Amino acid sequence: MRMILMGPPGAGKGTQAARLVERYRIAHISTGEMLREAVAERTPLGEKAAACMKAGQLVPDDLVIPMAVERLSKPDCRAGFILDGFPRTGPQAKGLDAELKTHHLALDVVLVIDVRDELILERITGRRMDPATGTIYHIIFDPPPPEVAPRVVQRADDTAEAVSARLAKYYSVTALMIPFYQQKGLLRRVDGNGSPEQVTERIMAALP
Ligand code: AP5
Repeated sequence: MRMILMGPPGAGKGTQAARLVERYRIAHISTGEMLREAVAERTPLGEKAAACMKAGQLVPDDLVIPMAVERLSKPDCRAGFILDGFPRTGPQAKGLDAELKTHHLALDVVLVIDVRDELILERITGRRMDPATGTIYHIIFDPPPPEVAPRVVQRADDTAEAVSARLAKYYSVTALMIPFYQQKGLLRRVDGNGSPEQVTERIMAALP
């Protein structure tokens, strides 16, 4: 299975990707996660990306495309992959297409998770992450167990200001790719409102 997962910030892409990779035994490629690691490790890429990310802006294509392409060349992607948060711009979509063509590969599905804007701020400001395992929690909807709670952290871009910038970028740039994938016959849309379990069921029903 080779899949792109799209949707606004807080739609549940990371939450659902974690479930899908377990079920299909495929690689989870989150460009957001890769960039956060680069920032934490203070690599040259991380130094360049940090300010854009904190402000909720997109990291430039000339940094993101080579990073994603390099990741896709790793052996664990041969069994399939979920791209979570990539591509996000027209040049990224074209870069991905070119890379897949070079390897005679094709996407199976592009899944868009739609969530009402009112829910997004609540989901994002309540999100916490366990730095030891990468598990995503929510202080109300999915609280961390007591032994994990003291070490959970909040993302630097999970502020109300950054969320509104991220949401604006999603609708003004990333969502414009939806017709591109629709024309290719790859698009499936899933209602992301409701519990994570309900959303997983809808995704399973929508997958080819
Ligand atoms: P990225 O990490 O990709 O962030 P995002 O797209 O804004 O998405 P999120 O991670 O915020 O949300 P999600 O949909 O994964 O939701 P989650 O499952 O965590 O990117 C971050 C930044 O990196 C970008 O702003 C940009 O700067 C940069 N970047 C990344 N990729 C890039 C690219 N390709 N090009 C350029 N720049 C790039 O869920 C959210 C919360 O809600 C959690 O607490 C979860 O527990 C809870 N939750 C999930 N589902 C439900 C549910 N059904 N009901 C109740 N709660 C739920």
